[in-house]
Amino acid sequence: MIRLYDVGMKYPGGTLALAHVDLSVAAGEFVFLVGPSGAGKTTLLRLMLRHELPSEGEILVGGRNVGALPAGKIPALRRSIGVVFQDFKLIRRKTALENVAYVLNVAGYSPREQKKRAYEALRGVGLHHRLGTYPHALSGGEQQRVAIARAIVGEPALLLADEPTGNLDPDLSYEIMKLFREINSRGTTVVVATHDRELVHRMQKRTVRLEHGRVVETGAGS
Ligand SMILES: Nc1ncnc2c1ncn2[C@@H]1O[C@H](COP(=O)(O)OP(=O)(O)O)[C@@H](O)[C@H]1O
Ligand SMILES: [Mg+2]
Repeated sequence: MIRLYDVGMKYPGGTLALAHVDLSVAAGEFVFLVGPSGAGKTTLLRLMLRHELPSEGEILVGGRNVGALPAGKIPALRRSIGVVFQDFKLIRRKTALENVAYVLNVAGYSPREQKKRAYEALRGVGLHHRLGTYPHALSGGEQQRVAIARAIVGEPALLLADEPTGNLDPDLSYEIMKLFREINSRGTTVVVATHDRELVHRMQKRTVRLEHGRVVETGAGS
């Protein structure tokens, strides 16, 4: 599903965020990306989404050469990936249910099916009692759970999550991870960047460790 060949990333200004990264994630795997702050985890995920271009090397995602993708094909790449980032953005004028249902619109589901699936996804993150609530009236953790429901509602082939449990308490974090595991068991490849060691330990999944922009451990496989 994902292959990186000798990937390097230098930001304008000179920070070397990644160097000589080789990585392979098979379809259907569940992988944690760990390492200290500044190790390059977010950069790695942003490269997969073509939010950044690598300075060196090649990145393949679902058979697409991401670095060489023509601009017109970038939206299709991003639509095929469910994303949970720290700076999740919910649409202010839509309710929780509408925020989640909305992403199924482009996928061609009927309005009724959109609502049904959005409801199921929100129920899965424990927000069935907040369907009609607007983002400003939700807590940070609740907003994050809406963002997670939105990322998984379309059952994407690939789910990328960057510190998805950053604002959540340990029990809820574990519930969310179990949800990711469930999605994974239905075929979605999952990559989660986190520095929550306890959570990683509890989940018993393959762990790729980055330090100073280099992969220092590629994990044993799940
Ligand atoms: N937009 C940016 N411009 C310049 N440097 C950046 C930018 N984003 C991240 N960096 C630098 O790249 C390195 C890796 O950062 P990042 O990928 O965010 O690591 P992590 O997610 O593991 O904390 C850090 O040294 C960080 O300061
Ligand atoms: Mg980060």
